[in-house]
Amino acid sequence: MGDTITIIDDRTGKQVTVPITNGVFPSAALRELDPDLRMYDPAFLSTAACSSAITYLDGDGGILRYRGYPIEQLAEHSTYLEVAYLLLNGELPTTEQLAAWTNDVTHHTFIHENMRKRFVDGFHYDAHPMGMFVSAVAALGTFYNDAKDIFDVASRDKQVLRLIAKMPTLAAMCHRFSVGQPFVYPDNSLSFPANFLNMMWKVGEYEVDPVLARAMDVLFILHADHEQNCGTTAMRVVGSSQADPYSACSAAASALYGPLHGGANEAVVRMLEEIGSIDNVSGFIEGVKQGKEKLMGFGHRVYKNYDPRATIIKNTAYDVFQVTGNNPLLDIALKLEEVALKDDYFVSRKLYPNVDFYSGLIYQAMGFPTSMFTVLFAIPRTAGWLAHWVELLGDKEQKISRPRQAYIGRGVRDYVAIGDRA
Ligand code: ACO
Repeated sequence: MGDTITIIDDRTGKQVTVPITNGVFPSAALRELDPDLRMYDPAFLSTAACSSAITYLDGDGGILRYRGYPIEQLAEHSTYLEVAYLLLNGELPTTEQLAAWTNDVTHHTFIHENMRKRFVDGFHYDAHPMGMFVSAVAALGTFYNDAKDIFDVASRDKQVLRLIAKMPTLAAMCHRFSVGQPFVYPDNSLSFPANFLNMMWKVGEYEVDPVLARAMDVLFILHADHEQNCGTTAMRVVGSSQADPYSACSAAASALYGPLHGGANEAVVRMLEEIGSIDNVSGFIEGVKQGKEKLMGFGHRVYKNYDPRATIIKNTAYDVFQVTGNNPLLDIALKLEEVALKDDYFVSRKLYPNVDFYSGLIYQAMGFPTSMFTVLFAIPRTAGWLAHWVELLGDKEQKISRPRQAYIGRGVRDYVAIGDRA
């Protein structure tokens, strides 16, 4: 038996046999049977919309690799900037390449003064930082008229560099505005994560704790890419119209904003606060099983096993708590995990902790307000979005994204004058 699939149209008896390559078969086979036939696949559960060489994910095995490198090894040995280079270029950098890349990123961290003074100052005092961030990323593109030259490789590389470098600056700026503190300029003498923490927290004398800087970097590595998730799909769909990368990144960040995606860690902390005590865990779990609420930070479209990022994050949490002191919500989270993983409701549905279950606890212990959690996700995910965008632009099989539909509305009917309507 070859690696093929045969599809028979029972209406006509016509059949077509097509190869299965890398676990997919071309949907063109359906068009061969009947050009008007479509596959109905809401939420793309069975659709591969692209070929990609960036991230490998095996949801049943709990495996995640960037460009072939296991996430566990990258989290232990690498840095976010090195990982960003890997995602974008396909290979780990040499010493010289990493030095040049780090130097370039470090020297593109500043943003135009008008971004802060004119754009950000226009927000309402209590604007959500993620809403500000989404808009700020799109607005940033208006400062670079060459951003639209997406097929000019030099210009494209420049935008990639700018976006990677300026995301922490935008993120910290949104936070400082939302709490009424003066903006802190980037400090080129600091590493990527230390510079971000400095821009976030510096008031008078402030020294970045190296344990916290490393924890931040590990979290950035873990969040850098996750193949065709909702945000990355938004990046590819918007990118497919040949929009500039700032607009596409802003769309991707908007997708990330939702509580079922990057907003989940914010929802996890709120959930833990509402539960309030480990004595209430069993009652809460019963409520979840009755469908009253969701256990936020559990479940994943692809992982039907422990999310490997959750394991690393759980360990990172203990490193952070050594510096910051324990987060009292940790005990509730541990108890929830323990109870859920023994309960048939969760076991039978293969619901395990995902990346967001513990990350919020670390962010909270580090002093980040919950409203900043999704922003923290967007900073490193920019590397993944851009790697997919660059891959998309070089993919000859791609065209503008344009799914079809199954029309279920009314047939043709004549317009009725307003006075004659029932
Ligand atoms: N709590 C309780 N039940 C759940 C949960 C949960 N967190 N997640 C899934 N289920 C149940 C569903 O009710 C469904 O049960 P049923 O078969 O009896 O109807 C079953 O498990 C399958 O769930 P689906 O919703 O079909 O799974 P889907 O793949 O569409 O959703 C998702 C995945 C959105 C992540 C979901 O698990 C969820 O909402 N989790 C909570 C939010 C969350 O943590 N999101 C972060 C994901 S990671 C990320 O985006 C970075």
